[in-house]
Amino acid sequence: MNEELLLSLKKAMADSFVLYYKAHTYHWNVEGADFKQYHDLFGGIYEEIFGAVDDLAEHIRQLDDYAPTSLMQLKSLSMISEDEDPVSAMSMVSRLLDANNLTLASLMMAYRAADNATELGLANFLQDRIAAHQKHGWMLKATLK
Ligand SMILES: [Fe+2]
Repeated sequence: MNEELLLSLKKAMADSFVLYYKAHTYHWNVEGADFKQYHDLFGGIYEEIFGAVDDLAEHIRQLDDYAPTSLMQLKSLSMISEDEDPVSAMSMVSRLLDANNLTLASLMMAYRAADNATELGLANFLQDRIAAHQKHGWMLKATLK
């Protein structure tokens, strides 16, 4: 088993999951005059990321390891800090952008490890994930201006 690849892939999955959950809570809890706009922005992001968590976990299984079995494990693998209380809409956008950047960094590490291991299907999938998160980053950055 390629431990470096597996650990980086689990970290990328954990960051994706924590980022997904953060975006979903923002979709629920956002308030203000532009509620609908933020609700929809966060909605599009959480749905896209949630759709990828399944593939990330199945790639771990294809490498003959097991996907994390508890939320505690996911939390300890992720670099993203969670929110204790609802925050303002703009703080949500800014925090989501930071969390998206952390997820991009862990996806990049996993991509490099997959490339080094000539796991080409996985490397290709991770490239697509990186592109998707770059698009999320663009939308969040544009919203902050
Ligand atoms: Fe909803």
